Amino acid sequence: MLSRRVLITQPIPEPGPTMVAELADTVDANLEHRVLAPGELRARVAGVDAILCLLTDAIDAAVLEAARGCRVVANMAVGYNNIDVPTATRLGIMVTNTPGVLTEATADLTMTLLLGTARRVAEGDRVMRADAFPGWGPLYMLGGDVTGRVLGLVGPGRIATAVARRALGFEMTILYHGLHASPELDALGARSVGFEELLAASDFVSLHVPLTAATKHLINARTLALMKPTAYLINTSRGPVVDESALAAALRSGVIAGAGLDVYEREPRIAPELAACENTLLLPHLGSATHATRAAMSRAAARNLTAVLRGEEPPDLVNPEVLLAPRRGD
Ligand code: GLV
Repeated sequence: MLSRRVLITQPIPEPGPTMVAELADTVDANLEHRVLAPGELRARVAGVDAILCLLTDAIDAAVLEAARGCRVVANMAVGYNNIDVPTATRLGIMVTNTPGVLTEATADLTMTLLLGTARRVAEGDRVMRADAFPGWGPLYMLGGDVTGRVLGLVGPGRIATAVARRALGFEMTILYHGLHASPELDALGARSVGFEELLAASDFVSLHVPLTAATKHLINARTLALMKPTAYLINTSRGPVVDESALAAALRSGVIAGAGLDVYEREPRIAPELAACENTLLLPHLGSATHATRAAMSRAAARNLTAVLRGEEPPDLVNPEVLLAPRRGD
C-alpha cells in the first residue's frame, strides 16, 4: 500500500487542494503567501510521497535528494525549468506539468503586450495619470502598426499557435522558427524560416520557447542587432531567454522600437536600466493569471499528483524515462 504524504508548497486555488486532501493521508500545505526558503523546503520535503509546487520553487538536486522516496513532483505550470529533471529521473521521481490549460490565457496576454507596446498604452496611461496630456496632436505619441504586419514566432508550440490564430484576425503575416516543423502553424499559413531570417523580417518577434541551456540569452546584443529598428520584442516565455541588459541598451539606443515583457531574467527583480526605458510595457508574469486558468492549472496539477498516489501513470509526465528505470530513491 502506497503511503500518501503530500507537500503543497504555496497557497493555490481550488480544486487542487480538495482533490489532494481527498486522497492523501497527510497534507502539509504552506498557507503563507511566500516562497519557502531553500532550507525550509528541504526540511518539509523529507518523507513526503508527493510535492505540488509552483514555478517559483527551486526544486534543485539538494531538494530532490532531501525528498528521496518521493514519487512525484507536480509543477503547477507548463514550464518546468525550476525542476532539476535529470536528478529527479535518476532518483526515480516523476515530474509533471500543466500543458494545454493555460494556452489561451497566455496567448491573450501575448496579444495584449503586442498591441499595448506598439500603441504605447502604458506610456499613455502614465501621461494621463500625471495630468500631462497636452491635447490631441497630429504628431503626438505615434506608435507602430499591427494590422498587416509581420509576426515572428520563436518556438512552434501550443502557445505560439494560439497567438498565430489571433494574429490572423489582424491580417498579420506569420513566420515561425523551431527545431521542428509545426503542421498546426503550417495549416494556418505560417511559414517556417531560419532564426536570423525571422529576426530580420519581423515587425514583432514573440518568444515561445522553454528555458534550456540552448535558449538562455537567445536574444542578446548580436541577435537584437539583427532585428529591424522599427520592430518590437514580446516575451511571455521565460525571462532568461533574453539578456536583459543587452535589451535595455538596444531600447535606449534605438536598435529596436520597443519591448513588451511579462517575464524577467532575475524575477521578481527587473534590471533598473530596463525599467527606465519608456518604450517598454512591463507586466508582472501574468500570462496564466485568470481565475479560470489558475483553477484549471490547479486541477491539472492535482490530477497528475493523485494519479501517481493511486499507482497510475500521470497524464502530463515530462520524464517518461523514469518509468523504465528501477527506483533508486527508496
Ligand atoms: C507560467 O509561466 C507557466 O509556465 O505555467
